[in-house]
Amino acid sequence: MAAETEGQPMQVRYSPLEQQFADVDEIFDELRALVRSTDFTLGKVVGEFEEMFAAAAGSKYAIGVGSGTDALKIPLKALGIGPGDEVITAANTFYATAGAIAETGSRIVFVDCDDTFGIDPDLIEAAITPRTKAIMPVHLAGDMANMTRITAIAEEHGLSVVEDACQSLLATEAGRPAGTWGIAGGFSMHPLKIINVWGDAGVIVTDDPEMDRMCRLLRNHGLRNRDEMEILGYNTRLDSVQAVVGKWIVARVEDIVAGRIEAAEHYDAAFADVPEITLPVRRATKGPEERAVYLNYVVYAERRDELLAHCHAHKVDAKVHYPIPLYKQDALRHLGYPDGAFPVTDRHAQTIISFPADQHLSTAELDYLIGVVRGFYGR
Ligand SMILES: Cc1ncc(COP(=O)(O)O)c(C=O)c1O
Repeated sequence: MAAETEGQPMQVRYSPLEQQFADVDEIFDELRALVRSTDFTLGKVVGEFEEMFAAAAGSKYAIGVGSGTDALKIPLKALGIGPGDEVITAANTFYATAGAIAETGSRIVFVDCDDTFGIDPDLIEAAITPRTKAIMPVHLAGDMANMTRITAIAEEHGLSVVEDACQSLLATEAGRPAGTWGIAGGFSMHPLKIINVWGDAGVIVTDDPEMDRMCRLLRNHGLRNRDEMEILGYNTRLDSVQAVVGKWIVARVEDIVAGRIEAAEHYDAAFADVPEITLPVRRATKGPEERAVYLNYVVYAERRDELLAHCHAHKVDAKVHYPIPLYKQDALRHLGYPDGAFPVTDRHAQTIISFPADQHLSTAELDYLIGVVRGFYGR
């Protein structure tokens, strides 16, 4: 949490970007040096960033790419997943998880979540067919999917696991970080994520040297060297300018996450005696080896839509992640899921509300938000 601001705030914004990047002379100094060097494509700074990211995320290798979406697509492509294959993922995820799977030409197979927000491990086996090649669990809102169970199921059925860890950098289960359970994990540095750059960027992590090699080929046209193309690939290199920003912010990630956890604990205590607010069953907060990082502070709320309107009327920028489940989106109707196919995802879409939880919120801002919510329920 940030130091106390003077007086009572009358509004609470969602995004901390303005404060986060208020004092960035260091970044501009390095950008000036980058421009002078003209080392713009997969240069020194990208390698430096990748080393720092791998150390922070707890992986052997980190490969910078153009977006979080590509950080999911590229490992699937590296595994040879394509038309005729199926990839299982969580029904309550963000558009990009489905988009990344679809880009490989494979079929998206949704499985409902449980009240932790993670894919329900009890439902995965029923979705496995002879065409299933991989499971893409999603670590949503800063928590962890149940990786102990998911990796056991995958192993039993000979499936690969590629984690969508875009929202959960530094979350851990049993002491093991998000992104490091499967053959690869994808992270996003989009402006709304735990660490963010000045545009789009993503990172793949892996401990597997062949996955590392394939991802490096695939992000750069499949080029083995300047003149030899080993496989068909893409242009999704991490931009050097974003790598400079990435270095600056990844160095601060532990503080960012500590601030988020502190804000979440403040909310938890304040909502404990509000019966209309139910805290989710959080997986990654049950012991010292477990850590949720609260990209969003999400709760279940009675009369959610009215509460949302009340928050907005009082200049509290609450949000819903996400109000329309993917399987009901026009773009994915062709998958053929009938309404009601994912009842827990549907229930969440009706009842969840997200509040900001970041290191720049002052105690006064948190307390103002809490007062607005408590006031709505007459508490
Ligand atoms: C769960 C999830 N997966 C994937 C992505 C894709 O990341 P990007 O926007 O960097 O492509 C995001 C965020 O945007 C996300 O929240």
